Amino acid sequence: MELESAIRRRRMVRSFRPDPVDDTLIDELLDLSRRAPSAGNTSAVEFVVLSTPEAVRGYWDITLPPARRAEFSFPGLLDAPVLVILLTRPDAYTRRYAESDKTHTSLGRSPAGWTVPYWWVDSGAVAQNLLLLVQPHGLGACMFGLFEHEPAVLDAFAVPGDRRAVATVALGYPSVHPGRPGRSADRRRPDLAEIIHRQRWSVARRERPGGPRAAGT
Ligand SMILES: Cc1cc2nc3c(=O)[nH]c(=O)nc-3n(C[C@H](O)[C@H](O)[C@H](O)COP(=O)(O)O)c2cc1C
Repeated sequence: MELESAIRRRRMVRSFRPDPVDDTLIDELLDLSRRAPSAGNTSAVEFVVLSTPEAVRGYWDITLPPARRAEFSFPGLLDAPVLVILLTRPDAYTRRYAESDKTHTSLGRSPAGWTVPYWWVDSGAVAQNLLLLVQPHGLGACMFGLFEHEPAVLDAFAVPGDRRAVATVALGYPSVHPGRPGRSADRRRPDLAEIIHRQRWSVARRERPGGPRAAGT
């Protein structure tokens, strides 16, 4: 029931108090977060934790330079005392799938051969763990993308070139002033009946964009 309540109550927090978060607690949260399933048990998620004001400022200076801050919708996000950059390593997956128990998949050749790049999938599971785990500690979190800033951020924090940044998770104690809701907050969750298809795709419900698949595809 605790898990159900955490899932139901979780929301992205975009306005924080600047109060620091204990380093040991962050380590514990990340240790639990990484205990997620991963394809081939590759376990290739890593974290860059920015928890000093200098490091956090360095991140924002790249992704949201001071000249753009006046028009930024979520100024309270910049008060988050901790930013966790979630990293993954696609090469670790190809290496793992080149091992003898996985060679039959041919996925060890190159990341391009993966119809579903599991490094992103596995990272999502770790991220969701983290977003849920913060709640009992009174912490809030917001996950957001790095977009075009990924190379500059990885470079600034000396991350090796074979790592990719999945997203950044801001962590901290939520401000009493929640700020404005996220831009996507008004979008409704689809009805359950629209997304569950029993025994076969249900034509009575919303069609897949692009229409039904041809047989055998
Ligand atoms: C992969 C990913 C990227 C996201 N990127 C952003 C972002 O760049 N900016 C933002 O404000 N919210 C971002 N979000 C948060 C979503 O907008 C949010 O999860 C969604 O609107 C549902 O709201 P809730 O998480 O509060 O329930 C992101 C979420 C995910 C999972």
